[in-house]
Amino acid sequence: MSKKYIEILTLLSVSYLEAINIHKTYGMRKILNGVNFRASDGETVIIQGPSGAGKTTLLNIISGIDLPDKGEVSLNGINIVRMDEDKRAKLRLNNIGLVFQESTLIEDLNILENIALPLKLAGKRWKEKVTELVRYLGIEKLKYEYPHSLSRGEKQRVEIARALANDPQILILDEPTSNLDDLNAFKVMELLQKIRKDMGTLIIIATHDVRITNIGEKHYFLKEGKLYED
Ligand SMILES: Nc1ncnc2c1ncn2[C@@H]1O[C@H](COP(=O)(O)OP(=O)(O)OP(=O)(O)O)[C@@H](O)[C@H]1O
Ligand SMILES: [Mg+2]
Repeated sequence: MSKKYIEILTLLSVSYLEAINIHKTYGMRKILNGVNFRASDGETVIIQGPSGAGKTTLLNIISGIDLPDKGEVSLNGINIVRMDEDKRAKLRLNNIGLVFQESTLIEDLNILENIALPLKLAGKRWKEKVTELVRYLGIEKLKYEYPHSLSRGEKQRVEIARALANDPQILILDEPTSNLDDLNAFKVMELLQKIRKDMGTLIIIATHDVRITNIGEKHYFLKEGKLYED
């Protein structure tokens, strides 16, 4: 890969993400059957749908973690489906912040070390950035704790801090409010709106939580393999 291409991958300033005609089958089951999706900078996009509809499958495909059987995913017109795994991983590390449905904090690392991890992997300086993030997210007092001693809501904040470490243009969250009580769910949503406002981040949220329908510019509903815009 040429040096120039690597620079494009890392410095890409995403202004839109588009998925075109995505198909995905697991075994005999067609999970996604021609899904189309488009989101632009500064938007908050909500993808709803019942459990098992394929929301996580779709997020994994638009973030390049998984590949569709058919279809394109493009960031500013660059089709990531045709990139090899290594290039997709680099692109993701530098441009996309991910918060997964299950906690993926590393139990042997404290909160500061967990948040610093993506910066270290990208070979960047981390101390200043991590200090700024824990302050921004209001989790300073937790910085030397280990994940097992945190509440679900606190862990969710740490996951968001880690996802923001590399200043991603896109933040993708899978069920960010599941298992949170009303107050903590509200705090997470408020935080996401603040991030969008402060940083212009494109935020994509998959959820079946009916409490978070009142935010976002775009609402999609995933049902029987198709994505419908509300
Ligand atoms: N790696 C896999 N292998 C086989 N089947 C899978 C795999 N990943 C997901 N599935 C199946 O695909 C379907 C969609 O799963 P997915 O996790 O995308 O749904 P979801 O909408 O995110 O559900 P939830 O709201 O419960 O998180 C499910 O029936 C699931 O069992
Ligand atoms: Mg899911």
